Amino acid sequence: MLILRRTDIPPSEITPATVYGDRRRFLGAALAAGGALLLPHAAQAALPRRFDQLARSPLSTTEPLNSYKDITTYNNFYELGTGKDDPARNAGSLKTQPWSVTIDGAVEKPGTYTLEDLLKPHALEERIYRLRCVEAWSMVIPWVGFPLGDLIKRFNPTSRAKYVAFTTLHDPEQMPGQRRAVLDWPYVEGLRMDEAMHPLAILAVGLYGEVLPGQNGAPLRLVVPWKYGFKSIKSIVRISLTEQMPPTAWNKSAPQEYGFYANVNPAVDHPRWSQKRERRLGELRKRETLPFNGYADQVAQLYSGMDLTRWY
Ligand code: MTE
Repeated sequence: MLILRRTDIPPSEITPATVYGDRRRFLGAALAAGGALLLPHAAQAALPRRFDQLARSPLSTTEPLNSYKDITTYNNFYELGTGKDDPARNAGSLKTQPWSVTIDGAVEKPGTYTLEDLLKPHALEERIYRLRCVEAWSMVIPWVGFPLGDLIKRFNPTSRAKYVAFTTLHDPEQMPGQRRAVLDWPYVEGLRMDEAMHPLAILAVGLYGEVLPGQNGAPLRLVVPWKYGFKSIKSIVRISLTEQMPPTAWNKSAPQEYGFYANVNPAVDHPRWSQKRERRLGELRKRETLPFNGYADQVAQLYSGMDLTRWY
C-alpha cells in the first residue's frame, strides 16, 4: 500500500488522487467541487458513507495533510484502549447507528434527537485544522463538520447558559476500555459559552470526505483546534448548557496537569514535559508549537486579561 509522507507534498499538490489514495475515495472527491451539502437526503436513513460536494471552509489551513492512515491508526480514545493503535483495532465494537443526542440544561427547547434529525438543518463543509495533542504530537486533519455555535443557537440558550458540557457514550459492552477505571467514565468535556460559539469550534461527522471511523469519535465529535486535543471529545451523546463550569475528564483525573481551558500554550509546560515543541506525524524534525496552536489571531481576545499560566 502506498503511504504518502505528507511533508513531501506541497499544499498545491494535494489533489484528490494523491490525498484519497484509492479509487472510491478519488471518485467522491472529484465531485467535491463546491457548494455545501445539505443533509435532507440522508435524513431518513443513516449518514451517508461519503459526503460529496463539500465546500472547503476558508477557515482551513493550507498546510499539508496527514495521511488517512496516520489519522485513523494513531489515536487517543481511551474507551477503546490506551495504546495508540488500540482504538483502530477495537472500534468494531462501537455501534454508531442508531445514535441519539440529548440537548438539555439552560435551553428553551431541550430534547433527544436522532443524529440524522439533529444534523438535518446543517450544511456540512470541509475544515482542515491542525490538531495538537497535549502529548506533543500534532496532525493536520480534513474534518467534515459544521459550526457548533449553529447547533447551540437552534435550541435557544437561556441567559443562564454560561458553559457547554459534553458527554461521551458510556457503554462498557461497546467500549471495552470503560471496563477499566482508567478515567472516571463517561468522558466529559466542556467549553465556556463564548468558546463554544466561536466559528472555529465545530462538530465533526467525517474526515477525508468520509463518515468518521469509530476510532476518531464516530458518529459525532467536537473539534476545537486552538486547544489541546483532549478537549475534542468523541462519540458525543449529550450536550448540556450549564450555569456552572462543568467537570472535565482529564481535569478530574489529574487537576495539576490538565486545566479546564487547555489552550495550546508553548509558554506553559506540562508538569512532566515541555510544550514548546511538537512532532508533526510524518516529520522527523520537531516544530515550534504556536500559541493557541496558530489560531491566536482569531481566539486570543477570548482570554484577554486572563493569566494563562493560572488558567491552563
Ligand atoms: N474523547 C473521548 N471520549 N475519549 C478520549 O480518550 N481522547 C482525546 C480526544 N477525545 C479522547 C477523546 C485526546 S487526548 C485527543 S489527542 C484526541 O481525542 C485525539 O483525536 P484523534 O484520535 O481523532 O486524533
